[in-house]
Amino acid sequence: IRKIAVLTSGGDAPGMNAAIRAVVRACAYYHISCVGIFRGFQGMIEGDFKELGPRDVKYIVSKGGTILKTARSEEFKTEAGRKQAYKNITEAEIDALIVIGGDGSFTGALQFSKEFSFPVIGIPGTIDNDINGTSHTIGFDTALNTIIDAVDKIRDTATSHKRLFFIEVMGRDVGHIALNAGIGAGAEEILIPEENIGLPKLLEKLKKSKLSGKSSCIVIVAEGDKTGRNVFELSEYVEENLPEYDVRVSVLGHLQRGGSPSCFDRVLASRLGVKAVESILENKSGIMIGLINDQMAETKLEKAIKGEAPIDEELIRISEILSI
Ligand code: F6P
Repeated sequence: IRKIAVLTSGGDAPGMNAAIRAVVRACAYYHISCVGIFRGFQGMIEGDFKELGPRDVKYIVSKGGTILKTARSEEFKTEAGRKQAYKNITEAEIDALIVIGGDGSFTGALQFSKEFSFPVIGIPGTIDNDINGTSHTIGFDTALNTIIDAVDKIRDTATSHKRLFFIEVMGRDVGHIALNAGIGAGAEEILIPEENIGLPKLLEKLKKSKLSGKSSCIVIVAEGDKTGRNVFELSEYVEENLPEYDVRVSVLGHLQRGGSPSCFDRVLASRLGVKAVESILENKSGIMIGLINDQMAETKLEKAIKGEAPIDEELIRISEILSI
């Protein structure tokens, strides 16, 4: 192995830069060339490459986003697109590829690796934490910290006005962000796709909450929740059925993806980046490096993307107890 390429793909996540830095510097440490591919798989198709040395990644450990930019490439889903990408990568004499991204990125990486017998290693980078084979994806912790900061602020105004807030958080089809941020911010209710309590039960719980003497109420809603109503419709529904509540809505949106990564995400990204390079040097391929029981662990890409990482039932129980 003489040259390794690295790219970021899918939704950006805070800590991706720390992972890029780790890959670039580990390559330098092991005397291997490192190439950055811009805009994910799309840049691979377009040959948008740049050699990166250790000084090219200075100060990026603290920066949100990704210096390599990112994209969700439709063209890479076609055989012609992948063939072009392979042509570019072989012409550039790249021997292996490190993909930092989520399940969509890993799906593309796996297909590419199989089609051309090309060594590929995945690093989980997404705020959603929806990858099997790692307790944490890069960006999850930072997003949670960003969310609880926002919810704490909303709580101030909610309490002052004795209001109920529906706050929508990201997470695509899963509730990891909602559940963890909800507990961290002391939410009264958390609506996640994995456990649809149904609207009558929601009303009942909100009624109980009001009667218990609470002066504000925060309901965290995962964007993928299964109530069948979006946050605005939920708000109308509650106002119609529980007139005692003055309801407001806040959709946190893309602010959840930005900002300087937490120390946890920086350390995680650093560990995963170094280990990914070392795995390539050990001739490994088709795997993702993740964190299991605070140890670096390998999981086959097939398994990493198979279904979502299960929700922590214990956390659901804790949130029930604490919202009394
Ligand atoms: O996968 C990360 C994520 O932020 C999801 O939580 C969200 O559903 C999606 O990306 C939003 O995608 P986009 O930035 O393309 O709107």
